[in-house]
Amino acid sequence: MNGLFDYINTELSRDPGICILTYPYSFAWEKTSEIEVKEVWTHFGGGNEVFAYVHIPFCSKECHFCGFHKFIGKGYATIRNYLTDLYAEIEIASPLLQKRSPLAVTIGGGSPSLLKADDMTTLLGNVYKSMGIEKSCEVTVEVYPDKLATFEKLTAMKEAEANRISLGFQSLNDKLKRICNRHDTVEDNLAAYENARKAGFDDISIDLLCGLPQQTMEIWQDSIKQTIELNPDQICFFPLSIRHPGIPFYEKVKHTLPAFEVLKKMYFWARKRLISSGYKQATRHNFKKECSRGLYEYHQSLGTPCLGLGVNSISFLPGYTYKNVKDLEEYSNSVRKKQLPVDTGFDLAKNAEDANAFVVKRLTFLSVDKNEFNSRFQKDFDTVYEAQIDALTKSGLANNNNFHFTLTEEGIYYTALVKRCFFSERLHKLQTERLGRLKPPIRNKN
Ligand SMILES: C[S@@+](CC[C@H](N)C(=O)[O-])C[C@H]1O[C@@H](n2cnc3c(N)ncnc32)[C@H](O)[C@@H]1O
Ligand code: SF4
Repeated sequence: MNGLFDYINTELSRDPGICILTYPYSFAWEKTSEIEVKEVWTHFGGGNEVFAYVHIPFCSKECHFCGFHKFIGKGYATIRNYLTDLYAEIEIASPLLQKRSPLAVTIGGGSPSLLKADDMTTLLGNVYKSMGIEKSCEVTVEVYPDKLATFEKLTAMKEAEANRISLGFQSLNDKLKRICNRHDTVEDNLAAYENARKAGFDDISIDLLCGLPQQTMEIWQDSIKQTIELNPDQICFFPLSIRHPGIPFYEKVKHTLPAFEVLKKMYFWARKRLISSGYKQATRHNFKKECSRGLYEYHQSLGTPCLGLGVNSISFLPGYTYKNVKDLEEYSNSVRKKQLPVDTGFDLAKNAEDANAFVVKRLTFLSVDKNEFNSRFQKDFDTVYEAQIDALTKSGLANNNNFHFTLTEEGIYYTALVKRCFFSERLHKLQTERLGRLKPPIRNKN
């Protein structure tokens, strides 16, 4: 990448961007096949550690900021049919794990809590049985904290052996929720949290969004304070990212987004408050109590092999990444023929991108262990990434000692930018062509 130092300087004048978990972005992937995917799982040569993700792509109303793959307002018959197909996929795909029992499973979405209690019980039962889940596994369900998050439903999840809940509060302010087209209220959120505790969940994570339209420093601080008061085991706060294809919301609200400097102050204020309240920073966005395992996020960032199930789910292996088809009918046709519903993939090893992908993953946890890199790739980190180390340390975003390449406080805020510096030139160019026009504007710094 030419002019890395100049690139960093320009990017430092933009909003920080959301964490990058998939390298490269999926628009660089190519068509894959069941044969290829089976081959990779058979020979990936990793250890025994694996985890899994199960996607429930249905929501009752679309949050204006959301770019995730989901279907809105489908009838329950469609959801039931999807579950039947999902059980078929779980049965076909679980043997890929070759009897490795997942350390963590997340049922995410979309809104898995749209499922009726008996369907949630059947789904969790299927996951446990087909994947040979053991008692020690962390099983998380993402719950939309609305009126459907009842004590009865959460109790059903607990009895079916889910042991962790992630609640997407997004904001504890009803006005901001309405602006974003959320249908839940602050009262619903607090009730959902209480129901989850009463149902016996001793590991609860709460998601908040920083940088919402019309969000003032005061509103933000209030959401953080109220959330800390609840004493959840983990709090994640993401910078709102609405500059993606398919999210027209940005044009509508761009004049009401918190200013560049305010957003940064919001981040550092919340970070300090969480740390002084007993939370430990795990990643740029995740803060957890000692008691929270957060195994799912941990393994995701570590690059542990992940089996993705459901439409559009991504599976990660060392050296290879692929995803399932997006379309419900295509998905159904495939699994009913007992074929893996795979769509596109990327061979990191063949494209000589595995070292970059490794660094991008590790940076999620704010530091790269250079010895680990050197022994895994038989290359010297300092030599391969001389230009990046030089530019990032001079810019004050990272420190480089004999053993670790570590983000500074400023670097943590700009984790996404630091990660982009480790993209290969080819993929960086491709990304700029595809996403350049959606970049946040450059802001004047005071
Ligand atoms: C995949 S979503 C599913 C969670 C669930 N459907 C809900 O909304 O409660 C997981 C998290 O991503 C975050 N998220 C969604 N859209 C986002 C965006 N445009 N920018 C940043 N974070 C976003 C939200 O905090 C959300 O809780
Ligand atoms: S409920 Fe969650 S997945 Fe559904 S639209 Fe809102 S943020 Fe996206």
